[in-house]
Amino acid sequence: MRKPKWRAATKAALALTGAGALAASMAMILPGTASAGTTLGASAAEKGRYFGTAVAANRLSDGAYTTILNREFNSVTPENEMKIDATEPQQGQFNFTNADRIVNHARSQGMSVRGHTLAWHQQQPGWMSSMSGSALRQAMLNHVTQVATYYRGKVVAWDVVNEAFADGNSGARRDSNLQRTGNDWIEAAFRAARAADPGAKLCYNDYNTDNWTWAKTQAVYNMVRDFKSRGVPIDCVGFQSHFNNDSPYVSNYRTTLSSFAALGVDVQITELDIQNAPANTYRAVVEDCLAVPRCNGITVWGIRDSDSWRSEQSPLLFTSGGAKKAAYDAVLAALNAGGTTPPPTTPPPTTPPPTTPPPTTPPPTTPPPTTPPPTGSCTATVSVNQWQGGFVANVRVTAGSSALNSWATTITLPSGAAVTNAWSANRSGNSGTVRFTNVDYNSQVGAGQTIEFGFQGTGTAGNLSATCA
Ligand code: G3I
Repeated sequence: MRKPKWRAATKAALALTGAGALAASMAMILPGTASAGTTLGASAAEKGRYFGTAVAANRLSDGAYTTILNREFNSVTPENEMKIDATEPQQGQFNFTNADRIVNHARSQGMSVRGHTLAWHQQQPGWMSSMSGSALRQAMLNHVTQVATYYRGKVVAWDVVNEAFADGNSGARRDSNLQRTGNDWIEAAFRAARAADPGAKLCYNDYNTDNWTWAKTQAVYNMVRDFKSRGVPIDCVGFQSHFNNDSPYVSNYRTTLSSFAALGVDVQITELDIQNAPANTYRAVVEDCLAVPRCNGITVWGIRDSDSWRSEQSPLLFTSGGAKKAAYDAVLAALNAGGTTPPPTTPPPTTPPPTTPPPTTPPPTTPPPTTPPPTGSCTATVSVNQWQGGFVANVRVTAGSSALNSWATTITLPSGAAVTNAWSANRSGNSGTVRFTNVDYNSQVGAGQTIEFGFQGTGTAGNLSATCA
């Protein structure tokens, strides 16, 4: 089917320059302007937003599925194909076959791509789920680096970290092997993602964070506020918004979206589905997003009810036969009627401040460089994964016949090479001779035992050697 020229142009712009095009198109939106889009993507684009769906690679051969996909949506999120078990099934061996099928399809249709997800406690491949400590931290950061680098320029926004907070009233981080590598694992993942793809928007994504009064919502809010205050590179927060009888849509959802946006991040509804797809609730969700200037997109978690991870709840916009449901009509009407997006100069929303106090002592990014001198001898080896213009180095530090209470190594980089970030070590210097010292959780190394740390850099590393200092 031939596409209207304006629609094709908008989709192409979104795909080519992602966030830049989105911002440019938002600047052209006139407040209060109703529109007459005939599809979800076209109507959302008229409001400077995208309307996306989760896509499964194995459904792309289903003509009924791709007909709706290509007609209605201007953004896609791979449902499972960019997860860790799919992209790095064996450590160090990356497989982008199915993710590429979705990315290529999206690009051919002028749709933008949300990447989901770089670091998550679920859907870890076996090799990763059995890892812990600094080896896991390093493997996670290498995964983030490699995948974000591979998709540089093709993914407009990444769910860098997914579902890191516990359900219930604790407001605590979820226990997981990643959490046990140290509380700074989330910010370390964001820094690695920024270094790998400086052009992608970096999001934290979670569920049960829709209700402003819930402890989990407040805990994520406090983390984002802390990140923004300390310069951790976070650009957006994803609200999965899987609404059902246990976690229903609530009228303070708009307050939640606007409160997060007031922290200086974009907000996106990333995995929307609603039990039994009530039209009024779908309409309310769209109206809430349109009312928040920095709510720049909505993604539903599948196209037809039969495509849903909760198909028994019939939670999506299309029937299993591909017919539009009442919820579809409500969403399209809300998108077309919307136009209340205030210009970006609007003062922050009058949302009441959060009821939880600010974090008293935010965790330091890296401990101060007060590492005591090494207490025993060690040896260190370096392996380098080089690509055009950049590299990741993994360093193994092995204690000699005495245990170490701390360690330090120096590595001399060739001219033109520079370290951009390091993990599982403190660093001083970024070029020439760079010194790395232990962090809290890997200071103790038993006699003959090995710990690992890593760093990423620009330029050509060549053959590096490390000296225990
Ligand atoms: O593809 C295999 C198939 O070959 C095999 O026969 C079958 C047997 O179980 O499994 C199939 O893989 C399943 C895969 O979905 C594809 O359908 C996995 O078992 C199943 O675990 C996987 O579930 C996915 C789930 O994440 C895993 O955690 C859902 O599709 C996916 O919709 C869901 O998405 C998550 C988001 O990533 C994060 N937020 C919550 C959301 C819903 O759970």
